[in-house]
Amino acid sequence: MPLLRPQRPADLPILVGGDSPFDEFGPRGPKAVPAPPDLDSDGGLTVVTAAGEVAGDVSWRWQQWGPNAGSRCPMIGIWLHPAHRGVGLGTQAQAELASLFFQHTTTHRIEAATDVENVAEQRALERAGFRRDGTLREAQWRDGAYHSCHLYSRLRTDRTAV
Ligand SMILES: CC(C)(COP(=O)(O)OP(=O)(O)OC[C@H]1O[C@@H](n2cnc3c(N)ncnc32)[C@H](O)[C@@H]1OP(=O)(O)O)[C@@H](O)C(=O)NCCC(=O)NCCS
Repeated sequence: MPLLRPQRPADLPILVGGDSPFDEFGPRGPKAVPAPPDLDSDGGLTVVTAAGEVAGDVSWRWQQWGPNAGSRCPMIGIWLHPAHRGVGLGTQAQAELASLFFQHTTTHRIEAATDVENVAEQRALERAGFRRDGTLREAQWRDGAYHSCHLYSRLRTDRTAV
């Protein structure tokens, strides 16, 4: 059974986020509608465990590094419910999302950014085949301060052990 599947309305009350120090962006209501699963536009998928339990979500937003189609790339994100952290789901879900992009779109580069102190996400990305490109200085305003992030990418041509 795949780890990622399209979001269902019943998933939304679980996909609340906002409980980790790296996700402190102020009060947020539950999502009103499931994110679209289409890879070619901004969207998201639900992360499920092998037992079919809703564990979190992955999402992506398309970035544009130049005016042409070949300069687009998805920037991915992930949130897992605290009960499902630290058992490898973050690694697997981001590896599976990368595989979906490479298999079903012509994407060459996938990006992710995470706080310089978010060691769990840095490790999960590296285990999912992403490499660190550099540091985005104080790029994120969160919880009353600017925070620096590491930018990661995985290229279609990168060799990976995942
Ligand atoms: C970040 C997150 C996606 C990582 O997923 P995960 O399933 O918990 O991580 P994994 O179990 O795949 O572990 C990946 C690595 O991180 C390490 N790790 C896990 N939790 C950790 C922690 N709290 N501190 C340090 N390292 C940690 C694991 O040991 C593993 O390292 P290893 O490869 O050296 O063994 C998940 O913890 C999460 O959703 N956190 C809250 C939201 C968040 O931070 N999202 C990312 C925002 S950019």
